[in-house]
Amino acid sequence: MNIMVIGGGGREHAIIKKLRENPAVETIYALPGNGGIAAEAQCVDIGAKDLPGIVNFARTHRIDFAVVAPDDPLVLGCVDQLQSIGIPCFGPESKAAIIEGSKAFSKELMKKYGIPTAKYETFTELEAALAYLDTQTAPIVVKADGLALGKGVIIAQTIDEAKEAARDMMAGGKFGKSGECVVIEEFLTGPEVSVLAFTDSNVVKPMVSSMDHKRALDGDQGLNTGGMGTVAPNPYYTDAVAQRCMEEIFLPTIRAMNEENRTFRGCLYFGLMLTPDGPKVIEYNCRFGDPETQVVLPLLESDLLTIMQATANGTLADVDVKFRDEHACCVVVASEGYPLKYDKGFAMTLPETGADTEIYIAGAKLGENGELLTSGGRVLGAVARAETLPAAIEKAYALAAQVQFENAFYRKDIGQRALAAKA
Ligand code: AMP
Ligand code: GLY
Repeated sequence: MNIMVIGGGGREHAIIKKLRENPAVETIYALPGNGGIAAEAQCVDIGAKDLPGIVNFARTHRIDFAVVAPDDPLVLGCVDQLQSIGIPCFGPESKAAIIEGSKAFSKELMKKYGIPTAKYETFTELEAALAYLDTQTAPIVVKADGLALGKGVIIAQTIDEAKEAARDMMAGGKFGKSGECVVIEEFLTGPEVSVLAFTDSNVVKPMVSSMDHKRALDGDQGLNTGGMGTVAPNPYYTDAVAQRCMEEIFLPTIRAMNEENRTFRGCLYFGLMLTPDGPKVIEYNCRFGDPETQVVLPLLESDLLTIMQATANGTLADVDVKFRDEHACCVVVASEGYPLKYDKGFAMTLPETGADTEIYIAGAKLGENGELLTSGGRVLGAVARAETLPAAIEKAYALAAQVQFENAFYRKDIGQRALAAKA
């Protein structure tokens, strides 16, 4: 089989490595892939948002199955276009990807179908947003409607700060079209859990839960990033919580999307907060999380391609989605200065990996002599799995410590919150 994977980060590297475990897989094309992915797949210089380029490539190569991993091409309709030329795809169509593409849509969906989430109001006029904020108390959360690379969420500690955020988004054009509409919502408290789930719109098969570490610096300080590390499973996500989430959130969401004629097939990511009033949805993503995937897929025992195909053709009920009874930890090694300004182009030295360790490359390109050079803010994920969480953390850090490039930095406390929760 020839497979095409759209995307080029650490998440895609993890997906491609897992797909490779199936002996039926021959060629994997990664569009665009990256310097590290090139060891596992044929990288093609076509960007993940270049839909005409992607479709043209698919037309001229014998592609049996496509996996569309990032949010942008999903929201833009990459799956719709590939399907229209007869290529089976893993990932939701555009009309379903809107669950991530528009916060106004997802909040309205939850309100209509009684799915627990923070109370909110949506605004398209700045004056109305400001007047509403005068009636509220801080802390309060201001979110840009559309995709904003995880940077469109402001947790305002004062009403003035919230007003400034609303002004920036709605009048300042800071997020372009994404900010023309804002959602202002209640500030929730409690531990956060990420749950990725396969769904073919008939059944939902959740993957092992995980915990992201979004801030750039130790102790959850510094700016919000795409994610600086993850552990799985998430100790707060007990069997009782899982059952409640299935009944109150996962199944109702799938049914709601069916009801709205926006059938979702693919990986639905539930960003949850376990509040004193029960689990609530903070956000939906229409795709695998990054770097959640880097800890979830190493724990997957079942065959990923089989699951993806079943998800695409509506037979997910018939396949096993089994996870190892183990723990995994991913430490993201980034370029100093990320998520703002950082230098790149540095040569990298990578450690050998074993049966229970992985290096997933996120931001690297190949130099003239085939050497790996850093090319992004998040450069790689050092991942380990083990029988216990402390052992997984220790092994992931031992691996990260052997990664060498100029200006490398990583958080030293990935997994500590999870360890404290278990104690
Ligand atoms: P998002 O980009 O929607 O994932 O939001 C980024 C982060 O902001 C989340 O991971 C939460 O930590 C935080 N956040 C978002 N919405 C809320 C809320 N209503 N209450 C408290 N924290 C929130
Ligand atoms: N790690 C969060 C995300 O993928 O959106």
